Amino acid sequence: MKSTSVLAVLSAAVSVHGHGYLTIPSSRTRLGAESGIDTCPECTILEPVSSWPNLDVAQVGRSGPCGYNARVSVDYNQPGSSWGTNTVATYTAGQTVDVQWCVDNNGDHGGMFSYRICQNQTLVDKFLTKGYLPTDAEKQEAENCFEAGTLPCTDVTGQSCGYNPDCTQGQACWRNDWFTCNAFQASSRRGCQGVDNNALGSCFTTIAGGYTVTKKIKIPNYSSAHTLLSFKWNSFQTGQIYLSCADIAIGGGGSTGGTTTLATSTKSATATASSASASASASGCATPAATVAVTFAELATTSYGQTIKVAGSISQLGSWNTASAPALSAAKYTTASPLWTYTVSLPAGTTFTYKFINVASSGAVSWESDPNRSFTVPTGCDAAVTVNSSWK
Ligand SMILES: *[C@@H]1O[C@H](CO)[C@@H](O)[C@H](O)[C@H]1NC(C)=O
Ligand SMILES: *[C@@H]1O[C@H](CO)[C@@H](O)[C@H](O)[C@H]1NC(C)=O
Ligand SMILES: *[C@@H]1O[C@H](CO)[C@@H](O)[C@H](O)[C@H]1NC(C)=O
Ligand SMILES: *[C@@H]1O[C@H](CO)[C@@H](O)[C@H](O)[C@H]1NC(C)=O
Repeated sequence: MKSTSVLAVLSAAVSVHGHGYLTIPSSRTRLGAESGIDTCPECTILEPVSSWPNLDVAQVGRSGPCGYNARVSVDYNQPGSSWGTNTVATYTAGQTVDVQWCVDNNGDHGGMFSYRICQNQTLVDKFLTKGYLPTDAEKQEAENCFEAGTLPCTDVTGQSCGYNPDCTQGQACWRNDWFTCNAFQASSRRGCQGVDNNALGSCFTTIAGGYTVTKKIKIPNYSSAHTLLSFKWNSFQTGQIYLSCADIAIGGGGSTGGTTTLATSTKSATATASSASASASASGCATPAATVAVTFAELATTSYGQTIKVAGSISQLGSWNTASAPALSAAKYTTASPLWTYTVSLPAGTTFTYKFINVASSGAVSWESDPNRSFTVPTGCDAAVTVNSSWK
């Protein structure tokens, strides 16, 4: 009997990756686990995600914004016996609050997590109606609203936002798929465990033990006696998305049913334009681009845990310091085309030398062979350029 359960745990551990759910405020999934209805709260998985690796465009299907746990056939998009009727937390519009999710140790790798609030009560009400299961179309419509209502990490003053869904193109954290949580530029305690540095078992999971990941969110200017906070973790390394949500109340904000445009208005600005007037006449171009979005597209076959970064002579590439070298994204990586990409805004005319490096999960760095590569950012009308290369 004992060996059977060990086998079951092992096979679960190798066949699935990721695993996480919202714990503070208490999500419907957490309440399901605490009531004994859900025997694997970290297993509320949307999979397979056919749009892998571009999980952002995935349809949520049956999973909806609150998650469907196929292991135990529980749909958290409708109120159950232990969740969905009462709110578990009351917040105030504009308040900054601690939120927390729990990641299982077997799935602490790539991914991007976000907290979302849909400010359309009509859509949310479908998920609050006892005895009513929203259709897949209603789930998707609500999911789109939650996506539009992503709470930017950068809305919280002083919060470290090295990995978050509101990074913009040109920032080191942009689509930083293989380096989310603390792993991004971390020297120790890589992965999500490094966020809180809490011990294994600091929160409840059933596969390999969990640890907490605490962040702060700023509650938007919105009021509702009963709405939902949705947590989403895109596990970019695997075709899986984890969704859960908590029943909350928000007081003191703007009127209900307002617009959902707040998320985009607060995103960080992209790199500021710097003057390139000197190049205007030389380029023979009426409006030369002051800065150019330079995309490095490097073909490099890597194995699990390895990441390609670009180190170079300019500060944007870490000034040859490998610890500061930005990571490329593996979002477009396939076996047939092992493509790593990274886009950075650079002043037109900048000349620099660089090399790609392969960084193992241990932190060990392998360099490309000599000579150094070099590049000069063009001074023309084009605001974007791609530099194609292969590992050498
Ligand atoms: C909320 O969603 C409903 C249903 O799709 C839609 O008819 C309504 O226009 C939305 N309200 C707002 C304020 O966007
Ligand atoms: C919140 O929204 C309401 C209207 O919905 C507005 O009157 C109020 O000024 C807003 N408060 C803040 C802090 O933006
Ligand atoms: C590459 O650049 C680094 C940093 O400037 C330098 O130390 C190294 O000698 C260069 N390699 C070659 C082969 O020129
Ligand atoms: C880089 O590769 C892409 C995709 O293959 C191609 O569209 C683009 O023209 C290439 N750029 C250069 C400068 O060769």
